[in-house]
Amino acid sequence: MPARLFLSSGDLMADRRFDFARDLQLKGDLVAAADLLLQAIELAPGFASAWFTLGQIREQLGERDAAIAAFRHAVIADPDDRHGAKLRLMLLGAEQLSDMPPAYVRAMFDQYAPKFETALVDDLGYRGPALLFKAVLSARAAVHKPAFFKRAIDLGCGTGLAAAAFAKEVDEFIGIDLSPRMIERARVTGLYAELEVTEMVQGLLGRGDASADLILAADAMVYVADLAPVLTEAKRVLVPGGLLAFTVETHGGEGVLLGEGLRYAHGAGHVRRAIENAGLKLSRLEDLSARNEDNAPVPGLVAVAAKP
Ligand SMILES: C[S@@+](CC[C@H](N)C(=O)[O-])C[C@H]1O[C@@H](n2cnc3c(N)ncnc32)[C@H](O)[C@@H]1O
Repeated sequence: MPARLFLSSGDLMADRRFDFARDLQLKGDLVAAADLLLQAIELAPGFASAWFTLGQIREQLGERDAAIAAFRHAVIADPDDRHGAKLRLMLLGAEQLSDMPPAYVRAMFDQYAPKFETALVDDLGYRGPALLFKAVLSARAAVHKPAFFKRAIDLGCGTGLAAAAFAKEVDEFIGIDLSPRMIERARVTGLYAELEVTEMVQGLLGRGDASADLILAADAMVYVADLAPVLTEAKRVLVPGGLLAFTVETHGGEGVLLGEGLRYAHGAGHVRRAIENAGLKLSRLEDLSARNEDNAPVPGLVAVAAKP
């Protein structure tokens, strides 16, 4: 994962105390670290990184209510919530499950971009694009249509791994991603006719009706709690017979969960219903894992849906 985000308080002494607190936290002296963070916060009450770290330390100390209070302060100090304090609040059961703060996703992937491919492909055995490719070929073969697409949209395109997998089958790729640093990397590949830094639903809203033959989202819906808005827009943007293919992480139960790894897991029933409710027709839903964690495959699904 990327290095932890640090947002300076603008006060040198407060920033120094934060640094010392982090050292103490890493050495395991959590009580002293929390104390130093409170001193930093006294100097700079709007110090989001200190509030967020204090929340994490209080969690480590088993002080749930105090952790919730610190995370709430972190959100007040940085309303864009680049640390993702709302996600910690969701995990603590103090907030309803909702979409990730876009600024958190952007900050995380901007930091991650330089080492993204090594970390994901080499360390976590990432195979999302290859799984999507096979699933799309099978879905096309099943309806006796060639797997060739004039225009494809890659949602959460990252550095461009999905476009690389589909390069021979797609005439023109449009990439959409929240992270400018990931988009910079995608641009270097030369695989995209167009790249847009924006949230995926916003990106689709700007596209015309029936203007894409294929829409892909490889390991991107794991950052989206509610699939309904993106599936609804995808249906509008696809040509009749066009395909939407995406991966999700999943779990044995119903609905959507936020995992400890801060990615959503969508139950199979939930994915089926979201596809149906969007007016798309499910072509394939397979139990396939797109990556490993702790050397074990993370339960996942590969979905392909067609616009009728
Ligand atoms: C794990 S990476 C996968 C990148 C690429 N699809 C691949 O297969 O290598 C997830 C990407 O989705 C982007 N992302 C997450 N949520 C998004 C959203 N709501 N709108 C646009 N991009 C999003 C992130 O910025 C990140 O680049």
